[in-house]
Amino acid sequence: MKVLLTGAAGFIGCRVSMFLVRDGMEVLGVDSLCDYYDPALKRARLRNAGIDPAADNGALDLEEGRVYHSSRFAGFSFAMTDVRSSRFAELAADFAPDVVIHLAAQPGVRHSTAHPEDCLEMNVMAFMRVLEVCRELKVGRMLYASSSSVYGDYPAQSFRESDQLQTPRSVYAVSKRTNEMLADVYARMYGIKMVGMRFFSVYGPWGRPDMAPIIFTRAIMAGEPISLFNAGQLSRDFTFIDDVAHAVSRIVAIGQLVNPESVHEVINIGHGVPTLVADFVSELEYHLGRKANIRLLPMQPGEMRSTLADNSRLRMQYGYSPPTTLRRGLARLVAWAREYYGVSPD
Ligand SMILES: NC(=O)c1ccc[n+]([C@@H]2O[C@H](COP(=O)([O-])OP(=O)(O)OC[C@H]3O[C@@H](n4cnc5c(N)ncnc54)[C@H](O)[C@@H]3O)[C@@H](O)[C@H]2O)c1
Repeated sequence: MKVLLTGAAGFIGCRVSMFLVRDGMEVLGVDSLCDYYDPALKRARLRNAGIDPAADNGALDLEEGRVYHSSRFAGFSFAMTDVRSSRFAELAADFAPDVVIHLAAQPGVRHSTAHPEDCLEMNVMAFMRVLEVCRELKVGRMLYASSSSVYGDYPAQSFRESDQLQTPRSVYAVSKRTNEMLADVYARMYGIKMVGMRFFSVYGPWGRPDMAPIIFTRAIMAGEPISLFNAGQLSRDFTFIDDVAHAVSRIVAIGQLVNPESVHEVINIGHGVPTLVADFVSELEYHLGRKANIRLLPMQPGEMRSTLADNSRLRMQYGYSPPTTLRRGLARLVAWAREYYGVSPD
């Protein structure tokens, strides 16, 4: 099976690519390596995945639009390009994918508050372009990243895919909800089978430096203060990166929607265990062997009080229940962070 994956230098996309090739698929990853956060981390993820232009052609850097083959994983190739470029459409046409996985986006709730137009351009217009490429190439299936943020402040304890969605709380949530609606339209109009994956607070090695798990880890290691919004009384369903990658690979491999009548489904990808952010920090302190210097702050605009996945659809339809406990997941994150950020254990 040939999979075209966007956002392949990103936190989730890079790990998903590794799981897909391990599971026997051929993957062409693309990414613009945008500078929302340090592109050096994106390059390091790619190097770890065997995309090393220096080894490939002696050049110091990636050449725009050129396809590089992994030296570590047969079946993985990568090209640096923006999904809105004509080069992306050409690459897609040459590769002729069976499945497209669209993970490229401008993430971050807070970023969407500060830069709403940016968020809509990257998450809605770029999404539209990928849909159009799928339509033009008659791609049979597309999986795309949605988010737990589409639930808004849903009053129930855990979120179900069948819930009547509440008003979105942020521009980012609007962009992800819009993706789901556009996917629905393209599924019905053009028969592209769609799966929208609602990810819940993903954390782990190679994590995003703008997200709380890495911000907290780095600050505690450096003895710097950390800020806890709503005094740490926000609850999140923290989901380990390998469980996410495993789930996505399984959805691709199973290959068809479980309900053959449906052309579009959304699915929660979350651990299904609530953790207060304050407790998350205590667990990190345990792994780092250091106390955090905590500043308690008020609630932020756009922030959800609680997220929790009901993951029974993932379990029943795809036979998968994310197994990694916070304790095990954080041990992996901390081991990686010490190595990557160059801090030796105390
Ligand atoms: N990490 C989470 O907890 C989480 C939770 C819910 C949803 N999501 C969604 O999952 C997806 C992946 O998130 P992530 O955490 O890996 O983020 P990430 O920022 O690490 O990865 C996204 C990648 O997309 C690339 N990109 C952005 N715009 C592009 C464009 N126009 N063309 C080509 N590449 C482009 C970026 O360079 C980046 O490497 C995103 O859609 C995000 O909104 C993530």
